[in-house]
Amino acid sequence: MVCSVHVVSISSLKGGVGKTSVTLGLASAALAAGIPTLVIDLDPHADASTGLGVRSDNKQTIGQMLKNARRAKLQDNVAASAWQSKAAEKKSRTRIPVLDVAVGDAYTGIYDRPDLRTRDLRRLTQLLGRTSGYQLVLIDCPPSLNGLTRMAWSASDQLLLVAEPSLFSVAGTERTQRALELFRQEFAPTLGPVKVVANRVRKDSAEHTFRINEMRQMFGANMLTPEIPEHPEWQQIQGAAYSVHHWPSKSTGPIVAQFDALLKEVMATDKTARTA
Ligand SMILES: Nc1ncnc2c1ncn2[C@@H]1O[C@H](COP(=O)(O)OP(=O)(O)O)[C@@H](O)[C@H]1O
Ligand SMILES: [Mg+2]
Repeated sequence: MVCSVHVVSISSLKGGVGKTSVTLGLASAALAAGIPTLVIDLDPHADASTGLGVRSDNKQTIGQMLKNARRAKLQDNVAASAWQSKAAEKKSRTRIPVLDVAVGDAYTGIYDRPDLRTRDLRRLTQLLGRTSGYQLVLIDCPPSLNGLTRMAWSASDQLLLVAEPSLFSVAGTERTQRALELFRQEFAPTLGPVKVVANRVRKDSAEHTFRINEMRQMFGANMLTPEIPEHPEWQQIQGAAYSVHHWPSKSTGPIVAQFDALLKEVMATDKTARTA
């Protein structure tokens, strides 16, 4: 793959904190900006695939491709997101921006073991190595630090840890960061920056303000701004398999701006800069 591509894992130890939502928000911002993007749905629940309005149909799923990583052709098996046609309609563009999906399914679960061998950890890297044309690859991970998440970390040059401003989520993020540093030493010495994104933040909540300050102290410059606010229509947007940038309501303006800013941070990240 050409070296100008950014490969970003979106992970967390905990479920329900917003990994898929951050993946979809970034994908939406990338589509609006015309950045050719591939979403890899590595979670066996396949929520990102559902949100992007794709099914595997006669294509291989990411699980099937990983099983045959040395020969499978990722490029031939990606599905075009249903968001693309909506974007084209809205902008009346003749050239539709690329947003492809390596479709997830339960089959990937065979790799979500704690004891995955080193050569299995490289399966996603092998698949991506024969892919070109994207400027951004977003990997939506399952809520565990098992084989699939480690496979994603091995293939990435940038990691986003998603956390809600709550005690258990912040504690889980700190544990994830420690696990990541061990993983880096053993398997991925060239792994790039690890950043933390706070999601579902409510400005009117004293608990959230307290936890956000705690996270800033804990993660310092690795905590990204902006934080993503809780949005009352978010579930409705996802339920309709819509991109937030094309949702027909003015109420999404602030969250759209936040994802645009987050995307800028991701695209501007120096891949070689490591964090302590
Ligand atoms: N910023 C947000 N505002 C409102 N609801 C959100 C937000 N982020 C996530 N959610 C909702 O929270 C639930 C869990 O989010 P999800 O992205 O599926 O988490 P994960 O992928 O970490 O399991 C979903 O129902 C999603 O719609
Ligand atoms: Mg998810």
